[in-house]
Amino acid sequence: MAGPGLSRSEVCGMLRQELTRDEAFLQPHIIIILGASGDLATKKIYPTLWWLFRDRLLPDETHVVGFARSPLTVESVRQQTLPHLKVSPEDPPPRLAQFWGRQSFVRGQYGDGGAFARLGGHLRALPGGEGANRLFYLALPPSLYVPVTRHLREACMGGGWNRVIVEKPFGRDLGSAEALGRHLGALFREEQIYRIDHYLGKEMVQSLMVLRFGNRIFGPVWTRDHVAAVVLTFKEPFGTQGRGGYFDDFGIIRDVMQNHLLQMLCLVAMEKPASTHPDDVRDEKVKVLKCIRPVELDDVVLGQYVGDPEGPPEARQGYLDDPTVPPGSTTATFAAAILRVANERWDGVPFVLRCGKALNERKAEVRLQFREVPGDIFGRQCKRNELVVRVQPDEAVYTKLMTKKPGLFFNPEESELDLTYGSRYKDVKLPDAYERLILDVLCGNQMHFVRSDELREAWRIFTPLLHTIEERGEKPLPYPYGSRGPPEADELLKRAGFLYEGTYRWVNPHRL
Ligand code: NDP
Ligand code: BG6
Repeated sequence: MAGPGLSRSEVCGMLRQELTRDEAFLQPHIIIILGASGDLATKKIYPTLWWLFRDRLLPDETHVVGFARSPLTVESVRQQTLPHLKVSPEDPPPRLAQFWGRQSFVRGQYGDGGAFARLGGHLRALPGGEGANRLFYLALPPSLYVPVTRHLREACMGGGWNRVIVEKPFGRDLGSAEALGRHLGALFREEQIYRIDHYLGKEMVQSLMVLRFGNRIFGPVWTRDHVAAVVLTFKEPFGTQGRGGYFDDFGIIRDVMQNHLLQMLCLVAMEKPASTHPDDVRDEKVKVLKCIRPVELDDVVLGQYVGDPEGPPEARQGYLDDPTVPPGSTTATFAAAILRVANERWDGVPFVLRCGKALNERKAEVRLQFREVPGDIFGRQCKRNELVVRVQPDEAVYTKLMTKKPGLFFNPEESELDLTYGSRYKDVKLPDAYERLILDVLCGNQMHFVRSDELREAWRIFTPLLHTIEERGEKPLPYPYGSRGPPEADELLKRAGFLYEGTYRWVNPHRL
């Protein structure tokens, strides 16, 4: 957000100036959180709204209304969310008090039309409420989307714009996603629906387009003639942590691969859009998805973590030891899959998607491995180049390449060109993905949201696989908590054509 040399408040001031040029931004706004007592609201939505409010990036006349079954009060939500707000001693205390002064709550059942009529009345009674722009955030289990959106449409629309943020998972498979899509489509226009995939709000995911299309040097090598394999990875070092009930219903393919990893794949594989207009970008994403064949079970490795009796206390619990997981569950907590993009640019290049919980580290990255240099003159000492975009943690872009070993040598040595954000952009505080995305919704920018046809294609690619796994009761391979996942996933990578040498050593310049 900040450029080198600019403080956060200067950058926010500039951004605010830009935002307030839009008439609509100066109108009253109401943000309505459906499911205000839940995990997402507590850990992500309230904190994000606070950060935006603190930085004066929310419209001045913004009110926040929480709706939930439980009897919430400003005080109870304040207590619950406080650990996640990251309030700093520099934040002026009156600002925080003002933030809580903008909150109110309505209690009701999600299926009760009367409760939504009360919510509608409450919204109208807020200052400027009748004509306010209204942003509805569905922070709810997907099973509630249908009744809640119907009631919202009937009782809660305002005189300004009305937009709805829908959280993933959008359905369980192609059929259910289409049914949900038809339901939403009958209530709202596509430009009112914001299907959020928070990976699209991450700094390095957004920087993929600039890296690819703002540089001359990458374009010519970004093809099947030069790229041997593309690997997209998501790793988490913890298990389900009591979220097993939700997770077991979906599994890692629906939770991470079909959305976060596939979105990253689109940005790596798509052609250059005609412009940066949201629909031009999304048109290209849909085009590339259309070229991907449904994933075959033979190209997939599934895993489920088991406790490591020798590990630290949290690692001793396997997935099936989580009391919120049904006994004997065969839900995968790890998956690796090869996807193929059958178009002129990518035919024959494997895109390997890997994701898992309870692994050895936290990491999300995009890795392009290039082919060997033809006509080797260095006696096979040169290793394949790699371009890595590390999404998290410690955002970086680095290229693994060969240099002459410095000094009185003439042999090649593995090294890197390294753009580590923490060193290059020392004073820049990168905003959280949700901050960017909620701001985008307020501005009506759908570029970083999933369009309905994009979603349909994503489900088309994974639905046959998901059905086969369920019909056959496919058993995942066990892997120890804290490991790199099942070794069979490395075999899959090898079979796909990714070459792991194990010889590269990175020396962190800051620890020298
Ligand atoms: P490596 O050559 O060490 O690893 C390359 C890839 O191989 C990784 O995707 C790794 O992923 C995978 N891998 C590891 N073991 C195996 C195996 N047995 N079989 C198949 N694949 C395997 O290069 P890295 O790019 O990972 O760099 C090494 C370290 O240096 C990393 O920690 C990296 O973050 C760091 N580094 C940091 C930079 C920076 O901060 N700017 C710049 C350059 C490097 P996985 O284990 O997930 O399977
Ligand atoms: C969510 C998944 O979409 O992404 C979670 O449902 C996962 O299972 C989370 O933990 C990871 O997000 P991040 O931003 O922490 O990488």
